[in-house]
Amino acid sequence: MSLRTPETIIETQAVTKRFSGSRGLFRPATFVSAVNAVSLKIRRGETFSIVGESGCGKSTLARLLVRLLHPSEGAVLYQGTDISSLSETDMRRLRKDLQFVFQDPFSSLNPRMTVGALIEEPMKVHTSLSRPERRQNVAELLRKVGLRPAFSNRYPHEFSGGQRQRIGIARALASGPKVIVGDEPVSALDVSVQAQVINLLEDLKAEFDLTLVLIAHDLAVIRHMSDRIAVMYLGEVVELAPNEALYNEPLHPYTQALMQAIPIASPHGRSMDAALTGDVPSPLAPPAGCRFHPRCPHASSLCSTEKPELTETGTDRMIACHHWEKFAGNAQTHLREPPRSANAEKRFTLFRERCQQQEPTTADNP
Ligand SMILES: Nc1ncnc2c1ncn2[C@@H]1O[C@H](COP(=O)(O)OP(=O)(O)OP(=O)(O)O)[C@@H](O)[C@H]1O
Ligand code: SF4
Ligand SMILES: [Mg+2]
Repeated sequence: MSLRTPETIIETQAVTKRFSGSRGLFRPATFVSAVNAVSLKIRRGETFSIVGESGCGKSTLARLLVRLLHPSEGAVLYQGTDISSLSETDMRRLRKDLQFVFQDPFSSLNPRMTVGALIEEPMKVHTSLSRPERRQNVAELLRKVGLRPAFSNRYPHEFSGGQRQRIGIARALASGPKVIVGDEPVSALDVSVQAQVINLLEDLKAEFDLTLVLIAHDLAVIRHMSDRIAVMYLGEVVELAPNEALYNEPLHPYTQALMQAIPIASPHGRSMDAALTGDVPSPLAPPAGCRFHPRCPHASSLCSTEKPELTETGTDRMIACHHWEKFAGNAQTHLREPPRSANAEKRFTLFRERCQQQEPTTADNP
């Protein structure tokens, strides 16, 4: 009797992205290693979140996942195909599966196009639907994201931030994607609107059988939605764990520090950036050994010379730390979980059951 192994939909293999930094007349070219040798597997049907302080490489990794950026080294596999080395023509066929929702819906929507044209555009590119069929789908998608079909003749500037993000989500859904990557999809919105858009994403995920990858600063948002969470520090993943395990017992000193800084009374009150003292070292010259060692209360001499690899702990979690076993369990976590929507609760239960199902099974709908 073997447990069913969750199916991988996207895999990164030691993916690295370097950007060229400042270059002066008498200065050599510098490089920012925004993402450094990140290897992870995202499972079909899960909500996978990536968290970390500003500048740690979350957006760069998110863009690499859907080939909005090319890696400098390493590979990104979508359903086993290395999309980092595909030609533009071959990539066009897969593009419909991999969609991106941007943080700022206003700048990502062409202001000269009507809402209807914006949502119809991906259907023109990726489907063979007739014009009346596309129009019908636009109306249906607008309804699905909680907007009136009559809005299709209006322009993006006529809408509020929350409505524009709903339009961005409808546009992402228009090609019939399998994966949606949201780069802080609610952080530009008012707190009251954030919850509505989060619940909308939850509902759409269930309805369209999507895999969601979410980038977020707000720990409460991540807690609310994620199945698994990757914690990034200075371009690297330092801990990867299921939601509850990470919040109940963070193992990496960086994750522990982030969790300890969450106030009990107001989970919305602070961002990751406020969670740690000490400056994040420059990504232009990251520290040797463990990149976290200048800020780590547990650092040893080994930590400043030898880089800890991200390794399995044997409990569906991974950690990059030489000494995690010594201080596992030290952290006190205080996050008060916001109430989940009924749909989110149902999906969480189904997801867990699905991971524990015995082979063989074909039931894949969350
Ligand atoms: N196009 C670029 N050119 C040069 N450097 C870049 C570029 N994009 C990102 N970087 C640098 O790469 C690093 C990671 O940036 P990234 O935007 O991925 O971080 P982030 O975690 O998304 O930050 P934030 O939370 O502020 O959005 C930063 O040091 C950033 O300055
Ligand atoms: S490897 Fe060392 S410096 Fe890095 S997190 Fe672990 S104890 Fe801290
Ligand atoms: Mg970002």
